[in-house]
Amino acid sequence: MIVFERPHVVVEGAARGRLPEWAVAGPERRAHMERVAGLLGWWADALGLEETDRIRWRAAGHLHDALRDEDPDALRPLVPEPFRHHPGHLLHGPAAAERLRGEGVADEELLDAVAFHTIGDARLGALGRALYAADFLEPGRRFLADWRAALRARMPGELVPVVTEIARARIENLVARGSPVLPETLGFWNALASEAA
Ligand SMILES: [Fe+2]
Ligand SMILES: [Fe+2]
Repeated sequence: MIVFERPHVVVEGAARGRLPEWAVAGPERRAHMERVAGLLGWWADALGLEETDRIRWRAAGHLHDALRDEDPDALRPLVPEPFRHHPGHLLHGPAAAERLRGEGVADEELLDAVAFHTIGDARLGALGRALYAADFLEPGRRFLADWRAALRARMPGELVPVVTEIARARIENLVARGSPVLPETLGFWNALASEAA
């Protein structure tokens, strides 16, 4: 017998655009989250995913930046130890994942997607990679708009090559600026590169 597991009520609500009460996100941020969710919903439909997964993909888009406008100093105590020493702008993903976990969301793939959407991680599967791509490719981003549009046009069919191209560009940018590259980001790159090899 196939058991249909409904997503958590918070996830179902988020898939329809209803954010948790604890969200701290202004109107522009919410518009970005809607565009990311729109892309993810479109890709999930195009991939023929089951309804449960379509809900999870859309929800990831709406939830990923739910705490993006919160003061990083308020987020730091909420995040687990590996994240606690990250720069402030990297805390909103893991903090949102922890808040969701605290509400009873036990969907580890969704929680990982939210937690690692900014930095990437080797453990990210299709949902996490799609969120990483959608966050970067959503049409509201004006910088390098033609390049982003060309990458969008290859989705969702070329998920791995497109995510690899985005990760490479972002890592190259960090290195060019002399910034550190987090181990999670390098692990993400190594996972992608080994699949492409
Ligand atoms: Fe974010
Ligand atoms: Fe985002």
